[in-house]
This record gives sequence, structure tokens and C-alpha cells, in this order.
Amino acid sequence: MKYKLKCITCEKIYEPKEDFYFCPECGERFGTLEVIYDYDNLNIKKEDFSKEKGMFQFEKLLPVSSHTRFDEYIGATPLIEFNDLLGINKVLIKYDGTNFSASYKDRASIIAINKAIEEKKDTIFCASTGNAATSLAMLSASTNLKTYIFVPNTIPIGKRLQLEVSGATILAIEGNYDQAFDLSMEIGLKKGWYLRNSAINPYLLEGKKTGAFEVIVQNNYEDIDYLFVSVGDGTVVSALYKGFYEFKKLKLISKIPKIIGVQSEGLDAVKRTFEQGAPYAPVDIEGTTIADSIAVGMPRDVIKACKYVEASNGKFITVSDIKIKEAIFELGKSTGIFAEPAGAITYGGFKKMVELNEINKNDKVCLVITGNGLKDPDVLKNDIENGFIEIDEVRRRFK
Ligand SMILES: Cc1ncc(COP(=O)(O)O)c(C=O)c1O
Ligand SMILES: [Zn+2]
Repeated sequence: MKYKLKCITCEKIYEPKEDFYFCPECGERFGTLEVIYDYDNLNIKKEDFSKEKGMFQFEKLLPVSSHTRFDEYIGATPLIEFNDLLGINKVLIKYDGTNFSASYKDRASIIAINKAIEEKKDTIFCASTGNAATSLAMLSASTNLKTYIFVPNTIPIGKRLQLEVSGATILAIEGNYDQAFDLSMEIGLKKGWYLRNSAINPYLLEGKKTGAFEVIVQNNYEDIDYLFVSVGDGTVVSALYKGFYEFKKLKLISKIPKIIGVQSEGLDAVKRTFEQGAPYAPVDIEGTTIADSIAVGMPRDVIKACKYVEASNGKFITVSDIKIKEAIFELGKSTGIFAEPAGAITYGGFKKMVELNEINKNDKVCLVITGNGLKDPDVLKNDIENGFIEIDEVRRRFK
């Protein structure tokens, strides 16, 4: 095998094998696994990568080979440079709302689907706040896999419609994401289906780290000082760190940015855990937020997220629901990007740190916007002007 698995807590090394997802000695939360490669013998050069190719161009650093028609189309999302956003000279926006199912989660789902195909599974399942589910459902629709989706019945209409048209079996439970997660594990593992729950399945983080690889390649391997991203379970934030870590280990870059994980004020379990300090132990909470994608009270990848963010010298911050909404509109007006709440919160976190003078005008900043705003139109339904304007009134106005 080209990789091994290492427990994030006891650091024991395991050989990968089927249906093996976490360190049995440390359990599901403390025993999440890191995928480690033989970095010294990988022979990876800058010339191997292009700004235009999808995430499978990084196959040497992925735990699976490409088997589906979608592989070359996932990733390769835009990195757009803004030169005076909130007074900061260089702000890069990595916009993953252009992915196949319109969120960052495609990077993980495609890994799970390829793994399930390699392991000759006939069924795949996931629990999700919405985007992981829609991405799995849409990307598996044209494969031979049967797909089971466990979600709260409150998921936004855009995501629900994506699920409905995909033909996946939708188990929309009367409960929250944390309950959907536990239920999916109870049933899916018993049935022997392939598990696409990112925090537990270590391979999914590997797909998500390709967002960092792309940022590096698209930014010409130049230094970035701060990278902001939203945090629910903590896998995306961990994956972005690991992407920078691996390229630094391969001597392709010289610096890892400070990773700033942005959570909703109403559900900030990862931030709370981080602030209690190492050795980290999950602080689970209950709460609500309009940012449904990161409405997680029992974050499953919290240990990795805290360790990695600490290693980057970064931190976790929060943004209130009111500020998230403001961020959606401000981001739209200044960049043309329409982000769902869990995407725009990243901009809200950036703005908060600019206002606190924690970011310098010459700092190089990257904002990862993880989901498209069309997924959750209801969240803005009270913010649009209703009614209409008389035709003659329009003529009068422009006379
Ligand atoms: C749009 C969006 N942003 C951010 C996240 C957070 O990812 P994680 O749960 O890995 O922290 C999610 C997760 O569902 C998401 O859908
Ligand atoms: Zn362990």
C-alpha cells in the first residue's frame, strides 16, 4: 500500500484494510486516523501540476485511483484575487460553489465513491447537514452504487431538491444532524455499506485537502499568511491544513498559513474545545444557527481540527447569525459571489479580524468559500423587497 493510517491520539500506525475507519483503542472521536504517505520517496515536482486540472492530478497524494467519469471535473475551482477587499491588498477567494454539486463536499464524495468501487461495495451511505449528502447523491447517481442518505428533515430546499432528483434513498429524519449521524453509523456499519461520513472515514479528508493544493498551485506557490474557512465537524479545516503541510513537507512551499476556523456564534463546539487547550477533549453543545451546513453540536473531527489549527498558529473565531447574513450581501456586492451562509461566514470572520486590526494591510489572505448561495434561498426570503413597480413609474423614473 502506498499509504498507512496513523491515530491522531495514540499515534499507532495501522495498515489500511476494508471497513477499518478509526483506531479501535481510542474510539470514534479520539481515534480518527491520518493518512500518511512515504513523502521521502514520492518524487513530486511543481511541474507535475497545472492550474486548470481537476483534483485527480494530485493522485500520488490520494489514497485511491480514479474510476469514474466525474473525476477530472471535480476541483479546479476558481481562485480569484481581489486587491482592495476591506482595505487588504491581496485577498484570494477560493470559490468551491462552482463544483459539480455546488459545494466543497464533492472533493470528499468522489473519493468515497472511488473507494466503494475499488472495494466492490454495492451500497454507500452518509449522514450530512446537507452538502455531503447532495454531493454523494449526485455523483453516485450514474454509478451502480445504491445510495442511502441520512439528513435532518429541515435541510434547505435547494439541497433537498438536489437529493430528490438524484434518485438516492432519502431518510430525512425528525432530528438534528448529530442524531442523523449516529443513526447512519448504527445501520450502515451493520449492513456493511461503504461509509461516507467525513469525520470518521479518513480518506475523505484526503479529497478535501486538494482545495489547499489548488490554492497553492493557482497562487504560484507564493506565501499566504492567513487562510479562513468555516467549521462544522472540523474536517474541511483539518484538510486545508494537511494540504499545506504536505506541500511544505515536499518542499514545494516554505510556509503554512495561519488557519482561521470560523464557526457560528450559536454552535461553536470546536472553538470551545480549542480554547480549553491541549490535550483536547470534545466540548459538545446544543444550539442553532442559520448556517445549516455547520450546525454541528458534536463535531466528529474536533481533535484533528484543534491539533492542526494549533500547529498552524491559527485559531477559531465566531460570527453571529446577523453578521452571517450581512456577510452574504457584502460578499455578493463586492465580489459577485453568492455564498450560502456557511460559505459567507468565512468572509464575516475575515471582516471581524480586519475590524479588530488583527490583519495587516499587507498580509496575504485566502478565503475559502465552500458552498453556493442558491442552495439555501429561504434564508434570505425576508430580506428581499416584495411587491412590484408600475410600468409607467419605471418610465417616469428614467425620463
Ligand atoms: C458549505 C459548507 N461549508 C463548510 C462545511 C464545514 O465542513 P466540516 O463539517 O468538515 O467542518 C460544510 C460541511 O457540511 C459545508 O457544507
Ligand atoms: Zn489510537
